[in-house]
Amino acid sequence: MKTLNTINAIRKELHPLRLANKRIALVPTMGNLHAGHISLVKEALKHADVVVSTIFVNPMQFGPNEDLDSYPRTLEADKEKLAHAGNHFLLTPSVKEIYPNGLNQTTVHVPGCTECLCGEKRPGHFDGVTTVVTKLFNMIQPDVAIFGQKDFQQLTTIRKMVVDLCFPIKIIGVETCREADNLAMSSRNGYLNTRERNTAPKLYHALKQIKSALLSAEKDHATLLRNTRQSLDETGFSTDYLEIRDADTLAKPGANSTRLVILGAAFLGKTRLIDNLTLELNQ
Ligand code: PAJ
Repeated sequence: MKTLNTINAIRKELHPLRLANKRIALVPTMGNLHAGHISLVKEALKHADVVVSTIFVNPMQFGPNEDLDSYPRTLEADKEKLAHAGNHFLLTPSVKEIYPNGLNQTTVHVPGCTECLCGEKRPGHFDGVTTVVTKLFNMIQPDVAIFGQKDFQQLTTIRKMVVDLCFPIKIIGVETCREADNLAMSSRNGYLNTRERNTAPKLYHALKQIKSALLSAEKDHATLLRNTRQSLDETGFSTDYLEIRDADTLAKPGANSTRLVILGAAFLGKTRLIDNLTLELNQ
């Protein structure tokens, strides 16, 4: 695996490969890699000849009171995991390389699916994500790009951005990797103390209970969500949101919605966890 720090260096590597008609896949990450990230690399290898992963803790997507400075940085261990998975190129640019003129720069805003859920709770977050992902798309010019369903709203937003801005890139979503007790793997799980770590899987259990109720034709979403939220809060969470949405648009489900997604965000102490679960409605 080759590790590069600059846009010029990665462009130089990829140019001849593109001329030789090699398919290029991009796996963007912020590092502190776990099995979920590695599953994206493995998926990428199925779709392309060359896999480029990136590690960049993107300051533009962090709010002023968020964990930018304390975000875990574990480059050496990350490199080992990527090389072991068969990743070909790793780009680890500096903040100066990505934002040479600071954060006061052109941004990409995707309307329609970023106003709600995490977009509402973390103002500016998705503009930061779509701006940096656009930069990565322009640097790498991949044929395919791989994202996790764990960040469901992020994946929906990137799918819309690619259509809206005519990026010739296929977006592939990969299922969420979970720990043995079903907690969704996340770099932020490392912030949890033992008590919080034991409570954390209950967020997914709550989503599963909502899914069962919906599959048994429960129609009163408001009561279902209110009751589940209350029991989460009684377990020690501070629920940020719990919602049932159309899985394609993230709008409130309508009569034509056939695929739903249940999305939850909840704090355990200072750590904010997110998770989601999709379901098909039988017509
Ligand atoms: P990060 O949180 O590092 O996640 C990188 C990619 O890994 C995302 O596509 C995310 O959805 C996926 N991922 C995270 N946990 C996962 C899990 N348990 N199972 C499967 N996939 C998982 O998401 C970001 O970084 C950033 O917003 C980024 C897209 C890199 C832009 O800065």
